[in-house]
Amino acid sequence: MKLIITGASGPFGRKTTEGLLKRVPAEDLILVTRNPDKLQDMAQLGAQVRFGDFDDKASLLKAFAGGDKMLMISTNRVGQRMPQHTNAVTAASESGVKHIIYTSFVGAEPDNPSLAVHDHRGTEALMKESGMTWTALRNSQYADFIFAAGPIALKSGKWMASAADGRIAHVTRQDCINCAIEVMATDGHDNRIYNITGPELNTMQDVARIVSETAGKPIEYVDVTDDDMYAHFDSLGIPRSAIDDNVVEGVPWCSDDMVSFERTIREGRFAVISDDVEKLTGNKPQSLRSFAEENRQLLDIAG
Ligand SMILES: NC(=O)c1ccc[n+]([C@@H]2O[C@H](COP(=O)([O-])OP(=O)(O)OC[C@H]3O[C@@H](n4cnc5c(N)ncnc54)[C@H](OP(=O)(O)O)[C@@H]3O)[C@@H](O)[C@H]2O)c1
Repeated sequence: MKLIITGASGPFGRKTTEGLLKRVPAEDLILVTRNPDKLQDMAQLGAQVRFGDFDDKASLLKAFAGGDKMLMISTNRVGQRMPQHTNAVTAASESGVKHIIYTSFVGAEPDNPSLAVHDHRGTEALMKESGMTWTALRNSQYADFIFAAGPIALKSGKWMASAADGRIAHVTRQDCINCAIEVMATDGHDNRIYNITGPELNTMQDVARIVSETAGKPIEYVDVTDDDMYAHFDSLGIPRSAIDDNVVEGVPWCSDDMVSFERTIREGRFAVISDDVEKLTGNKPQSLRSFAEENRQLLDIAG
């Protein structure tokens, strides 16, 4: 059985590959990336490293040839991913891939107002219509986001949010990766949706408190409107739509994504909690507080 991983050079793909190497022979892995140079170590171990760009379907038809099961890691141009994901799903189907596994998002339902979910919902629909068997890994918001947002809040002393009393069950990226590894390495996941969530639902006020207590510095939680959030992001020069030349840590951030995300939390559409991480991996997911404390040094850059 040949296993394809797309987006293989990013943190998600690389750590999934490392986990799979403990379960299957390297020769069974097909690693697809726009940056084959970054995966020469994996090629030396015996994995096949192939160029593939979701903006170029012809490259995907070559890259996916001979693969049986594929982990499709969503790309990061939020709100504009459907053409890319359409290329990837149709190329997988046309290449003979039998089972496709996708990094979706909790609450990927028809009337969810989040811009990010728009792409995930559309991609899930494509998979289901593709003729391949499929698995949707509906990841919740990464707990890891506190190491991007936390230092900014610690520096300003304020955590602005329009999520009000809405909740979301933060999950570590590593727990998401562990679930992806399990689904790739084992059978029994055909046409299933898994909600990959942390162990508790947090408000953004809870998040601000956890960051503040972990860092030992005060943060005032400031409840604002969506318009206030837009004004804040505008003042920082963050574009409303995702564009590739506004990249922070590899992600083209945009305020339409972040504001619609907080609105969706506020409306309770992301308040999803499940025990799928434990069911898949045998281990309980890590809590936000435990993860923050374990990586406390990542909050320290505010000085
Ligand atoms: N649950 C959450 O809170 C959360 C947070 C952030 C992001 N996400 C979503 O989950 C995905 C994985 O998140 P991550 O932060 O763990 O990201 P990541 O490891 O950086 O994975 C993103 C991958 O997208 C691939 N990619 C980007 N543009 C592409 C293109 N044109 N063609 C082919 N591949 C392309 C990149 O692959 P190569 O560079 O190897 O080609 C990259 O490795 C993200 O892309 C995003 O959709 C979820």
